Amino acid sequence: MTQMMMAAVAAAMMAVGLVGAAPTRAEAPSKPVIPSAFISSFEFYSSGVYGGTGQYYYDADAQKNHYNLTVANPFFPAQAVPYGYFYSEAGAWMYIEGICKSLGTKFAPVFSFVQSPATTYQGSKTVNGRDCDVWGLTTAQANLSVCTQNSVLVEFISESQVSTTHYMTRMLFGDDFNPSKPTPAELAVPEACFEPPVVCNATNLTAETMDVYAFQPKNQTGNIVDQDVADLRGDTVFVCFDLLSNNTANDHYAVVTNYKINVIPKWGLYRECNGYPPYCIGDAMVEVGRESSISKGPLRGQCEPNLDYGSWLSMPSMGYCQDGPLDLAKNCSWQVASVGKTISGACLIENPAFLQACSQIVNGSIDAAVDLFKAAFDSEDPSKNGCPAL
Ligand SMILES: *[C@@H]1O[C@H](CO)[C@@H](O)[C@H](O)[C@H]1NC(C)=O
Ligand SMILES: *[C@@H]1O[C@H](CO)[C@@H](O)[C@H](O)[C@H]1NC(C)=O
Ligand SMILES: *[C@@H]1O[C@H](CO)[C@@H](O)[C@H](O)[C@H]1NC(C)=O
Ligand SMILES: *[C@@H]1O[C@H](CO)[C@@H](O)[C@H](O)[C@H]1NC(C)=O
Ligand SMILES: *[C@@H]1O[C@H](CO)[C@@H](O)[C@H](O)[C@H]1NC(C)=O
Ligand SMILES: *[C@@H]1O[C@H](CO)[C@@H](O)[C@H](O)[C@H]1NC(C)=O
Ligand SMILES: *[C@@H]1O[C@H](CO)[C@@H](O)[C@H](O)[C@H]1NC(C)=O
Ligand SMILES: *[C@@H]1O[C@H](CO)[C@@H](O)[C@H](O)[C@H]1NC(C)=O
Repeated sequence: MTQMMMAAVAAAMMAVGLVGAAPTRAEAPSKPVIPSAFISSFEFYSSGVYGGTGQYYYDADAQKNHYNLTVANPFFPAQAVPYGYFYSEAGAWMYIEGICKSLGTKFAPVFSFVQSPATTYQGSKTVNGRDCDVWGLTTAQANLSVCTQNSVLVEFISESQVSTTHYMTRMLFGDDFNPSKPTPAELAVPEACFEPPVVCNATNLTAETMDVYAFQPKNQTGNIVDQDVADLRGDTVFVCFDLLSNNTANDHYAVVTNYKINVIPKWGLYRECNGYPPYCIGDAMVEVGRESSISKGPLRGQCEPNLDYGSWLSMPSMGYCQDGPLDLAKNCSWQVASVGKTISGACLIENPAFLQACSQIVNGSIDAAVDLFKAAFDSEDPSKNGCPAL
């Protein structure tokens, strides 16, 4: 599980309502040449969900690309923060509030696919009132398309499958699209991206046992290595926000399982992990990653108590040891003590009382939702909001 925006799932782009009906056109226009460098404002959509507005800088000759966008937070508008994405020949990163996470990839001349002989004309359409020509490439790994007015980019859509996760992103460029070279400063990767991730200054390295929860596909129950989990309050926030953003149906999360884990509470960088096998954003490390479920506080809550909205944790394979005493010096930061009850996600999210309680979180009152989340695990009695064990 991830930031809501990153919880990319298949959803119809048409639902956004910005893509008009395609007027037909008899003949293919000549193939556009996308400028090798440009600067433009853009709007970002992930699986049809609006993800923010920002500035896009691209320079294929310098092998660099940077874009930033402020990700809207419908629940806590004050928590809307700028995200920076940086691509260079040395690597690629996501940078948020001073924290840099490796994307495990590097610069690619994303628009060069247009010149491929396999890229074909797919008709014209109107995007946000602008007529443009669609050029698309379909491969087994990804579908890429641009909509252009001659060499002016109007839209870029990228659809890909990474492990079990389907991603669809859409960038809608502004009419300020300008084929000029960004300055080095506009493309500069932040220093933090070349430093190892920050680890908290814990003094007490005694292992703790804690309850965590994970919303997973049913056949992955028991498997949380390189997956994200959350404590009771943190998972309540996750499930509520997924529910309130109408994402749950798309997310294919089937069951929620309670785990007891033993962990050394010296927290590392929280990594967004998705899919089976997992793909994680952020450098691999031994320490269990952590952040506030609403990304609140210094280092987004990595080292804070997070008593209000709880914590999200990422469980690194590098620190996993099935048996044996936990010891950071032996690359052993956590283990599963026991796998507890598994319930169906539907039992929880289809309880009208839970939806009602979730909608109170935006007003600062999370306790009712937390109580209902816990009640689902505490009994099997529907009159007590309990859910059957699967
Ligand atoms: C993006 O970066 C530019 C500077 O390059 C800055 O002026 C702008 O405010 C940033 N926008 C967002 C949405 O973060
Ligand atoms: C590409 O598009 C086709 C047709 O819409 C679809 O079936 C396929 O899943 C897409 N591929 C990817 C990688 O998303
Ligand atoms: C750890 O302590 C040092 C020295 O006091 C401080 O500079 C650093 O910011 C602390 N790190 C964290 C993650 O709090
Ligand atoms: C260290 O943490 C353990 C487990 O949480 C706790 O039992 C112990 O009291 C702590 N020790 C100190 C000195 O705070
Ligand atoms: C788990 O179930 C999904 C369908 O829900 C299926 O696509 C996948 O292959 C299954 N994985 C394993 C390891 O059985
Ligand atoms: C989710 O769906 C409900 C009911 O259709 C709607 O009222 C609500 O605005 C939607 N929420 C979001 C964030 O789209
Ligand atoms: C811990 O992991 C690091 C990185 O993989 C490795 O270099 C080191 O040898 C490991 N240490 C132990 C004690 O296994
Ligand atoms: C949250 O509080 C606002 C202002 O007090 C109120 O208008 C709104 O109805 C409340 N929302 C819920 C879901 O209780």
